[in-house]
Amino acid sequence: MEEVRRIRKRDLIKKGFSKLLKEDKLKVVSEYIDNPSEFISLLKSFWYQDHEKQKQFDEFSENTISNFHIPYGVSPNVIINDKSYVVPMVIEESSVVAAASAAAKFWGERGGFHAEIVDVKKVGQVHFCWKGDKKILNDLLPEIKEEFIQKTSSITEKMRKRGGGILDIELIDFTDKIPDYYQFLVTFNTCDSMGANFINSILESFGQTLQDFFSRQNNLNEDERHVEIVMCILSNYTPECVAKVWVECPVSELNGVDECLDGRSFAEKFKKAVDIAHIDVYRATTHNKGIYNGIDAVVIATGNDFRATEAAGHAYAARNGSYQSLSYVDIHDDMFRFTLEVPLALGTVGGLTSLHPLAKKSLELLGNPSAKELMMIAATMGLANNYAAVKSLTTKGIQQGHMKMHLANILNQLGAVEEEKVKAAEYFKDKVVSYSEVEKYLNTIR
Ligand code: MEV
Repeated sequence: MEEVRRIRKRDLIKKGFSKLLKEDKLKVVSEYIDNPSEFISLLKSFWYQDHEKQKQFDEFSENTISNFHIPYGVSPNVIINDKSYVVPMVIEESSVVAAASAAAKFWGERGGFHAEIVDVKKVGQVHFCWKGDKKILNDLLPEIKEEFIQKTSSITEKMRKRGGGILDIELIDFTDKIPDYYQFLVTFNTCDSMGANFINSILESFGQTLQDFFSRQNNLNEDERHVEIVMCILSNYTPECVAKVWVECPVSELNGVDECLDGRSFAEKFKKAVDIAHIDVYRATTHNKGIYNGIDAVVIATGNDFRATEAAGHAYAARNGSYQSLSYVDIHDDMFRFTLEVPLALGTVGGLTSLHPLAKKSLELLGNPSAKELMMIAATMGLANNYAAVKSLTTKGIQQGHMKMHLANILNQLGAVEEEKVKAAEYFKDKVVSYSEVEKYLNTIR
């Protein structure tokens, strides 16, 4: 009981924590660790020596006390629509970059990846409640929409000049589900920006305009002059902001992918594995996770929002009423075609893309692509990782490659020195890697 009370008391950090200096925050937090001074010096060792550089990171988020590093790798020679890219990938999982690179090499020798943009519409909503005759609302709609457009013209001016802006405003009646509840479903083209701030500013302006509009309608009763704005926010579900990417080759060109399967048998087994992810949610989730291994790595490397991308993708995967694979296989007339269609609301200007020094360099490495081009690149790495995973799963299994890449992590965990690492790499070349086997091997050479 005494112990529980002590922990509970300790759990509460005093009010005003966010106002403390970084050093002081670190001290307060270190009290939660058995060895506070070791914790402080470890976290400080990850601070940039360059004060200005560190300040930039501190200002990205509240209560920053250190930086958390994740490997920044590249997948070279990725051919998309006949153009070669060196694709930056930020990911902690050891086999992802290797898998993507192997798939990129394989498909690079078979015409590369083909990609296109299906559409780039972004979506936002004004959710509101209004007690009144629906006919009145519908009659007033043209006037309301006009006022929406007029009142946001200064916010949309620059975007309109770039060819984007508000595309459509639709009133949706949800009063059969929630009393008095309607929404304006608004579609946008935000050009090369992800557009979250642009969209949210417009939606909030719409909300205010809607309230003002009704408060001025003196012919309506008091109830009808009142609009409750529940919320105004973009939707991360972007089923019309989609990239499509595919690889294809004659089935005969798949001969040799596996020692035990000829090209046709491999193609058919591969298709079966992907088909399973269309009918079974357990497999579909893991299958799509493999796709996001590649997509997220690019999304993070370019300073985009990977939570938004994932949320959109998983909702899209369930658009037909059950959660399914985002990729599919066709085998027709002896041609194997593997396709991924995925919503990707990415930006190459604004947000973190130009603030984070490495995100900026990632975009430079990719030749400063447009948002559409970046969507195709991210989708490609999704397909590359998906191909690599399903290929391994349907042939030699995933663990062989996975554990090979994981060998370095195990050796580090076991405190192996450089010479031991070299010997272990040689020894495990043709053996199954596991923690206990590596430990056993180190004991034999130590
Ligand atoms: C591991 O990060 C991803 C895989 O599980 C994907 C898949 O099973 O398709 C290998």
